[in-house]
Amino acid sequence: MPTKYVRSISSGVKVGGVRGEENLVSVHFRCYDRGSVRQVYLDNNATTLVDPAVFEAMKPFFLENYGNASSIHTLGQKARAVVEDSRAQVAELIGSKTTEIVFTSGGTESDNTALRGVATALRSRGNHIITTTIEHSAILHPCRQLEAEGFRVSFLKVDRQGLLSLDRLREAIDEDTILISVMHANNEIGVIEPLKEIAALARDRGVLLHTDAVQTVGKITLDVENLGVDLLSLSAHKFHGPKGVGALYVRGDVALLPLLHGGGHERSRRAGTLNVPGIVGLGKTCELAGAFLQDFGTRVGGLRDKLEKGIVEGIPDTVVNGSTRERVPHLSNISFRGIEGEALLIALDFQGVAVSTGSACSSGTVEPSHVLMALGGDRGLHKSAIRLSLSRMNDDQDIDYVLGILPEVVKKMRQVTPTYRSG
Ligand SMILES: Cc1ncc(COP(=O)(O)O)c(C=O)c1O
Repeated sequence: MPTKYVRSISSGVKVGGVRGEENLVSVHFRCYDRGSVRQVYLDNNATTLVDPAVFEAMKPFFLENYGNASSIHTLGQKARAVVEDSRAQVAELIGSKTTEIVFTSGGTESDNTALRGVATALRSRGNHIITTTIEHSAILHPCRQLEAEGFRVSFLKVDRQGLLSLDRLREAIDEDTILISVMHANNEIGVIEPLKEIAALARDRGVLLHTDAVQTVGKITLDVENLGVDLLSLSAHKFHGPKGVGALYVRGDVALLPLLHGGGHERSRRAGTLNVPGIVGLGKTCELAGAFLQDFGTRVGGLRDKLEKGIVEGIPDTVVNGSTRERVPHLSNISFRGIEGEALLIALDFQGVAVSTGSACSSGTVEPSHVLMALGGDRGLHKSAIRLSLSRMNDDQDIDYVLGILPEVVKKMRQVTPTYRSG
C-alpha cells in the first residue's frame, strides 16, 4: 500500500507521564496521499512512541557525555554514574535490589539469557524445563533450541481463557525440573497468568521461576518480591522507551551463566560495552511509567473498555478472545466473523488506524496466531482476529474515531464476503 509522505498533522498528546507535570507536545503523524487522515496508533504491544522526556534524557549521552562506562577518566565515570542511577530506577519500578538488574538489548535477549543461562548453569542438577504453548517466540524458539541440545522441555497447554492450570503444572514437575518459564501477561490476548500461585508451587518444589513480563512492566503494578519470581524480563520499547534496551532481573542467589562472553560487564553476567544512552532511556522510562502506574488502569483501561464495548455492541458477530477477567487493561483481541484479520488490518490502515493481527513478530503469515490456536475453537474465527493495544498516549478522540469508522469498514468487507452469513 502506498504510504507516500505528503504532510504532517499535529495532535496534542500528553507526554511526560508524571502526574501534574505533563507537558503538551505536538506529535507529527504520517498522512497518506489520499488526504489527511487522523492517525490512531493501537499497536502499542508491538512498540510505542518514545516519550519525548525519555528522548531528551538520552540526548546528552550521544553528544556530550559519550564516555564508556568502564573507563576510569571523568567522562567514563559520568557514564558509570548515570548507568547506576538508571539501574536504581529500574529496580525501584519492579521492587528489586539494584544488584539484581542486568542490562540487556531487550526482551528477546533477556528471555534467551534467562533460559540458557539457568539451563547451562544447572545442567548437572537436571535437564527439564517447563513453559507454556502461548509464550512469545523469544521463549518458544530458545526452548526448541535447548531441546535440540538434549534438554527436555514441556510445553504446557492453557485453557480456553488462556490460563495455565496449577494442577497441570504440578503434574509436569519432576525430579529433573530446573526451570519454569511462564509469561506474566500474554502479548496477544493480554491474559495475566497466576504467577503468585505458580511461584509458590515452584518454590515448594525447589524449581526456579522465570517470567517474561515484557507486556506488564510499566503497565500494571508489579513487585518481584511479592510475585515470588526468580528471574524477570523487561523491554524499554514496550512502554515508551527506546528500542534495543531492556533488563533481566536475577534474584541474588540464582546461578546464571552469561549468554555473551567477553569483558566482565554487568558483574560478569552480560559482556559488552554498556549502551549508556539506551540505559538512561530505560531508567527514565521506568521513572515516568512508575509515576503514571496508579492511573494506568483507570485511564487506559477506561479507554479500552469503551472501545471494546463499542465494538461488541455496535458490530454483530464479534467475539473477544481470551479471559476478560484476568487481563491487562490496555489490550483487546477481537474476532470479526467472516473477515480475514489481515484484510481488516489493511482496511484500517487506509483509514489511519494501526492495529495488528497475532503478534507483530509473526505478521506477514496468514496462519492464525499460535496463541489463539492454543485456546482451541474455530480456526476461521481466529483468522479474523485483530489486536488493539493502547497506551497512555491514546485519548478519547482516538477511540471515538475508531468507533466511528469501524462498523462501516466491517460491513463493507462482509458484503463482499460471499460465505458470510450474519448470526
Ligand atoms: C511477551 C514478549 N516477550 C518478548 C518480546 C521481545 O522483546 P524485544 O522486542 O525487546 O526483543 C516481546 C515483543 O514483542 C513480547 O511481546
